[in-house]
Amino acid sequence: MSKSIIILGIESSCDDTAAAVIKDGKLLANIVATQNIHKAYGGVVPELASRAHQKNIIPVVDQALKQAGVAKHELSAIAFTRGPGLMGSLIVGISFAKAFALGLDIPLIEVNHMQGHILAHFIDAPPDLLKGEEEPIRAPNFPFLCLTVSGGHTQIVLVNDFFEMKVIGETIDDAAGEAFDKAAKIMGLPYPGGPLIDKYAKEGDPKAFTFSKPKVPDLNFSFSGLKTGFMNFINNETAKNPNFVDERKADICASIQRTIIDILMNKLKIAAQQNNITQIAIAGGVSANSELRATLHELAKQLGWQVFIPKFEYCTDNAAMIAITGYYKYLKQDFTTQAITPLPRYSLG
Ligand code: KG4
Ligand code: ZN
Repeated sequence: MSKSIIILGIESSCDDTAAAVIKDGKLLANIVATQNIHKAYGGVVPELASRAHQKNIIPVVDQALKQAGVAKHELSAIAFTRGPGLMGSLIVGISFAKAFALGLDIPLIEVNHMQGHILAHFIDAPPDLLKGEEEPIRAPNFPFLCLTVSGGHTQIVLVNDFFEMKVIGETIDDAAGEAFDKAAKIMGLPYPGGPLIDKYAKEGDPKAFTFSKPKVPDLNFSFSGLKTGFMNFINNETAKNPNFVDERKADICASIQRTIIDILMNKLKIAAQQNNITQIAIAGGVSANSELRATLHELAKQLGWQVFIPKFEYCTDNAAMIAITGYYKYLKQDFTTQAITPLPRYSLG
């Protein structure tokens, strides 16, 4: 019998310190330490993120190996996020990965975080790691389109293969997650505001307020005008009624959420039509949004799409997506060296 391939994945690109173990393509452990320290500042503070990664990285890796029941000398390789992300955060994960790989004398594999988000669709997790979600995991067939929507990125990617990916549309300014977070901040909600807008929107009317949508050519997006329009709207209404946000919170959240989703879906529909593709996937933190998920299922019925939405814990930043990408790179023997450096701006394809 051939030897098992066991990959340790490390993710530290932003404000989550994460480690995961994948054995022969199957997930054995997935640990994420979220840094709550940023809540008080209304956004991620890079220096604090870097320090928290330093504190968390060893316990998180230790916990992942224990949960997987894997001893460090059994590891075949270490995969880590090279970028895109915050320089100070990336450095911690990379330095740890390099030192650990050197000590164990095993290969290093560098991973693009955005490729990781997309390949999260191929994570094969046993039911006990799915936290009660019973639906079996289905992976999309190539080629498919992936809408990657996170706090730092908004892209439509044509995915031809595990390694052949082409960005066919992206934001020219803010990311979709930023639009959620900034709208929440304007309303006085804590960071990250996306999940809170999602929660309050459930009780609100999405047609209560309308916001003007951007006119951006091709398959690109823009969210900065929406943010300014939203800020002016809240300022004007609050000048008339200081309790406006409190009194209409649900309606405001439902309306801004609807606008962001409409902007995303309009371009996704055009991309699907232009490429004649009906296999549609989403990835990234914003794909955890319940209304976005519901809208995609609705579009699937209307347009004959087959929609692929990762399990919740693989939407937001995690190391399972880094480990699975590392696994496919390991199969190609695509290794890197100790000379590798972080790439805070690392484009896909
Ligand atoms: O992928 P991710 O965890 O980190 C980045 O790589 O950026 O994405 C984080 C983003 C944040 O902007 C957060 O507000 C947003 O994902 N997010 C959501 C929801 N859950 C997370 N946005 C809207 N609705 C949600 N349920
Ligand atoms: Zn991410």
